[in-house]
Amino acid sequence: MVLVGLQGSGKSSWVGAHLAGTHVVVSKDHWPNARRRQARQQRVVAELLADGRSVVVDNTNAAPEDRAPLVALARQAGVPVRAVWVDTPLEVCLERNARRAGRARVPLAGLYGTRARLVPPSTDEGFTRVDVVRSGSGPSAGGNAARTM
Ligand SMILES: Nc1ncnc2c1ncn2[C@@H]1O[C@H](COP(=O)(O)OP(=O)(O)OP(=O)(O)O)[C@@H](O)[C@H]1O
Ligand SMILES: [Mg+2]
Repeated sequence: MVLVGLQGSGKSSWVGAHLAGTHVVVSKDHWPNARRRQARQQRVVAELLADGRSVVVDNTNAAPEDRAPLVALARQAGVPVRAVWVDTPLEVCLERNARRAGRARVPLAGLYGTRARLVPPSTDEGFTRVDVVRSGSGPSAGGNAARTM
């Protein structure tokens, strides 16, 4: 599973509500100070998939080039790979970000930068399935709250 969404869009909340207990959560945020976090993330995901675990990658994953290495890992492991786009309006993310404290609050330039880079995930990238979670409609994918592209 590959989460896609702005900072504060609700990705980690969605993961906690839907995948706790079934998926190992991998996120570069877990290693804020590590060098080569990207390479480390790839290695960790590859190892987990080789072990037969279900994995969710919880980063902004805004651009196709962010997601392609993850799709490739799933392909190599021979497992399906699903994208979940938490499509929360920028204004809502900005408001939530302003209410966050300490390191959780990201610089505004980061949020605007992610918004500028964000390309909605598509099955053209190799995803088995793409779900969209919209704020206000409840955080459940697969039902009325989400549509599959
Ligand atoms: N469906 C929701 N409705 C209302 N508030 C929500 C919802 N989902 C998350 N929030 C709130 O929004 C804030 C950000 O949520 P969360 O940490 O899940 O975002 P995130 O996408 O993981 O952000 P980041 O990319 O910075 O890790 C939290 O305060 C959370 O409680
Ligand atoms: Mg998060």
